[in-house]
Amino acid sequence: MPSSRRLARLITDTPHLRQASAVVEIGPGTGAFTTSILEQKRPDALFLAVELNGTFVQMLKHRHPGVEFYHDSAAHVQTYLRKHGRETCDCIICGMPWGIFDETLQRSLLAAICDVLEPGGEISTFAYLGGPWLKPGRRFKRMLPEYFSKVTVSRMIWMNMPPAFVYRCVK
Ligand SMILES: C[S@@+](CC[C@H](N)C(=O)[O-])C[C@H]1O[C@@H](n2cnc3c(N)ncnc32)[C@H](O)[C@@H]1O
Repeated sequence: MPSSRRLARLITDTPHLRQASAVVEIGPGTGAFTTSILEQKRPDALFLAVELNGTFVQMLKHRHPGVEFYHDSAAHVQTYLRKHGRETCDCIICGMPWGIFDETLQRSLLAAICDVLEPGGEISTFAYLGGPWLKPGRRFKRMLPEYFSKVTVSRMIWMNMPPAFVYRCVK
C-alpha cells in the first residue's frame, strides 16, 4: 500500500529538505514521497533516488523524466552521489521497510546511509504503528542513537494505512 499524502507531507516537512544542496530518496516505491520532495526542495538542489525494484524504477522514470532514479540497493548510494560529483548529501528521505530487515541488514544499510550524510544532515524515515513493539522494529529504534546524535519521533498519522510516524535523525 503506498503511503498517504498526509504521511508524504509530514516526512517532507523539514527545513533540512528545503535548505539542502543535495537530497537523496531511498526506496521511493511508487513515488508517494517523490512528488512532495520535488515540491519542497530547492530548485537548484541535486536530487537522486535509489530503489531496489526495477519495475518501480521504470515507472518513476516515466512519471518524473527530470529525476535521476537508480535501480540498486541503498547500500551503494555513494556510487550515485559520486556520479554527480558529490561525496555526501544534506538530506535523505527514506521509505525502506526497516521493520522487516534482520540486524545485519539494518546495520549495513544504516552505516551506508550515515556515511553519505553530511555532519548536521538529516534522514527522515517512517515506521508503522506497532512496528517498534515487534523485535526488528524495536531493535531499529534502539539502534538509531548509535548512528545519529539527535533522534526525534513525530506524531502519528492515523489516516495512513496502516497508521505511521516519522523518525528524524540528525548526524
Ligand atoms: C514500504 S515501501 C515504501 C515506498 C514509498 N516510499 C511509500 O512510502 O509508499 C519500501 C520501498 O523500499 C524499497 N527497498 C527495499 N529495500 C531497499 C534497498 N536496500 N535499497 C533501496 N530500496 C529498497 C522497496 O523496493 C520498496 O519500494
